[in-house]
Amino acid sequence: MSPIEVVYDNPVTCDTRVAWASVPEELTQPRRQAVLAELRELLKARDAVLVAHYYVHPDLQDLAEATGGLVADSLEMARFGKNHPAHTLVVAGVRFMGETAKILSPEKTVLMPRLDAECSLDLGCPEADFAAFCAAHPEREVVVYSNTSAAVKARADWVVTSGCAVAVVRHLHQQGKKILWAPDRHLGDYVARETGADLLSWQGSCIVHDEFKVQELKDLKASLPHALVLVHPESPREIIALADRVGSTRGILEAAATPGVNTFIVATDNGMFHKLRQTYPEKHFIEAPTAGSGATCRSCAHCPWMSMNGLENLRTVLLQGGPEIVIDPVLIPRARLPIDRMLEFTRASAIPAAAGLVPHIGAA
Ligand code: 13P
Ligand code: SF4
Repeated sequence: MSPIEVVYDNPVTCDTRVAWASVPEELTQPRRQAVLAELRELLKARDAVLVAHYYVHPDLQDLAEATGGLVADSLEMARFGKNHPAHTLVVAGVRFMGETAKILSPEKTVLMPRLDAECSLDLGCPEADFAAFCAAHPEREVVVYSNTSAAVKARADWVVTSGCAVAVVRHLHQQGKKILWAPDRHLGDYVARETGADLLSWQGSCIVHDEFKVQELKDLKASLPHALVLVHPESPREIIALADRVGSTRGILEAAATPGVNTFIVATDNGMFHKLRQTYPEKHFIEAPTAGSGATCRSCAHCPWMSMNGLENLRTVLLQGGPEIVIDPVLIPRARLPIDRMLEFTRASAIPAAAGLVPHIGAA
C-alpha cells in the first residue's frame, strides 16, 4: 500500500500565524529580572520543577537549570519528570511533552506556559485517521514518535524519540517484525535506511526541519571545508545526506564536543544554539540555510509553538496553578504502556540520551 498523504497544514488546527501571533514580547531588563526572581519563589512555593526543551527561550532554559530542573531532549525530559519527586511538573516545550509527563506521572500536576503550543507532527496525525491506518495493517508493529497525542500513543506498541528510534526499530527488525511508523516521514525514512526494516510510514513532517535547503547547505559546506554538519533526523533525506553526524538534540550537543573541530553547521531549530554556545563558548555554530536562492523571505528555523513559551505566561500559570494538562484517565494506562516499553528498553540497553547520534550515512 502506498503511504497515506496527510495534509497537516489545516488552517483550523495548524495555523502557524496564530502561534507566531502568540509569541511573547521580549521583556525589559528590569521586568525580566523581577519576573525571574518571582518565578524562583513561585517554583519553590508550588513544589514545582521546571523541565525545558532545548528549543525554548534561553531565559527558560537557564531558569530550569538554576532551580534544579532540566534542559534536555524529549527522551531525557520524559525520564526526568517521571523520576523527580516534585508535586508539580512545569513543562516548557510543546503539548506532547506535557502529555508525556502527565501519562508517566498521573498523580502529579503538570503545567505548561501555553497548552496550545502544538507540533505539526502531532497535528498532522489525528487519532481517527491513524486508527484506520493501523486497522489496515494489523500485522505490523506500531511504532510512534513521541511527537503525537496521548490518543495516538494509546494505539501504539512502542513510543520512540529521535534519541532511541534507530535502536528500537533495529531490535524489532531483528525479531522479524514489520513496522508501521508515524508520523514523521523523514525520521521514518532515516530509521528504515539505518536499520533495513520494512517500515510503512505516515506522511507527516516538521515544519521547521522541512525548511532546510539542499543547494544552499552544499554551498555553505563547500565554503567551510573544516566545519562538521550536524543534522536532526526530522530533516529531509537530502539534508541528512550532507550530514557528518545525525542525532537528536542531545546527540547534536554531544557531537559538538568532537575534538579538533571548532566550526559546526547545525540543521535543527535555532533554539538549540543557546545550549551549544553555552557549552562550547570557544566554538562557532552556524545555522544551516533555510531560504532557497529564489526565496523572497528567510524562514527562521524556529518552531512557532516552542516560541510561545515565555517568562510572563510561566508566571501566570504558576500563580494560578493552571490550566493544567488533563488526559482522560481511561487513556492513560494504555498510552503509558508503549512509553514504559521505550524507557525500559533504553534503560536495559543502557542507551544514553545521545544514542540517536550516528555518523554520516551518505546519500541513499
Ligand atoms: P528531540 O527528541 O531530539 O529533542 O526532538 C524533539 C523535537 O520536537 C524536535 O523537533
Ligand atoms: Fe514539532 Fe517541529 Fe516544533 Fe519539534 S520543531 S515541536 S517537531 S513542529
